[in-house]
Amino acid sequence: MTEKFTVDDIQKLYAEQAAMHGTSGTSTIQDMRTRVLEVKALLPHLRPAMSVLEVGCGNGYTTTQVLAAYPDIRIKAFDFSPAMIDNAKKLDPDNRVGFFVGDVLKLDDTQAYDVVFSQRCIQNLVSWDDQKVALGNIVRALKPGGAYIMQEGFSTGLNNLNEARDELGLEPIPESWHNHFFDEPATIEFMLSLGCACTFQDAFLSGYYFGSRVLLPALMPKGAKVKSSSRLNDYFAALPPAGDFCPMKLLRFEKRA
Ligand SMILES: C[S@@+](CC[C@H](N)C(=O)[O-])C[C@H]1O[C@@H](n2cnc3c(N)ncnc32)[C@H](O)[C@@H]1O
Repeated sequence: MTEKFTVDDIQKLYAEQAAMHGTSGTSTIQDMRTRVLEVKALLPHLRPAMSVLEVGCGNGYTTTQVLAAYPDIRIKAFDFSPAMIDNAKKLDPDNRVGFFVGDVLKLDDTQAYDVVFSQRCIQNLVSWDDQKVALGNIVRALKPGGAYIMQEGFSTGLNNLNEARDELGLEPIPESWHNHFFDEPATIEFMLSLGCACTFQDAFLSGYYFGSRVLLPALMPKGAKVKSSSRLNDYFAALPPAGDFCPMKLLRFEKRA
């Protein structure tokens, strides 16, 4: 089967992003409100002194936010883009994080971490088969009783968002060319087969996305373009996450003790 994109496409994309955005929080995501909410949703799943691995850390923006919140956390982070890791090392001059170049498809740690997390990384793998390999490697890397915090894109949220947009006469937002969103029931079932139960789900961006991607474009005067810098988005970003109207969400999987 022909895949939607190749590994080379992904490597080229993130080499360009690394050159364009350097150490900025806008690297890999233009919308800083999304970025802030993403980190806010992650932090309650971590604890001081835990041993943590971040998969596909990009330029290390989130990694350094985690370190700021939990100064004594033991955190390692990797990405397969050398340019992203060069940027990440600039954010960590004292080498408190062990940043390294690595491929999640080759991750071979065993029972090493209390928590592994990923933010919009596994969705960039070219197929569900590769995604299953990555999930298997992540689960193997967890200690018994450890947790995988999966902040990735799921089709259900995008479909719900587009159904709401359709009701208001708005065009659907397509899945980006470089994403391969997850089927939620299939993901949960696969993780169960690896001995992991889904213990928590958080559609943390649902309120913000419903506001910024459904209400705001519908409210705009005819012909005016939606800007993510809109003041209305300050309000939408503060909304509670009702419903399931954003592809990105957080699933917590706990490995059997
Ligand atoms: C959307 S970006 C997110 C980066 C980071 N998590 C962030 O929040 O900015 C996806 C990242 O996954 C990395 N990536 C893609 N495939 C990978 C793989 N097989 N192994 C490790 N990293 C990978 C890319 O290089 C890119 O930096």
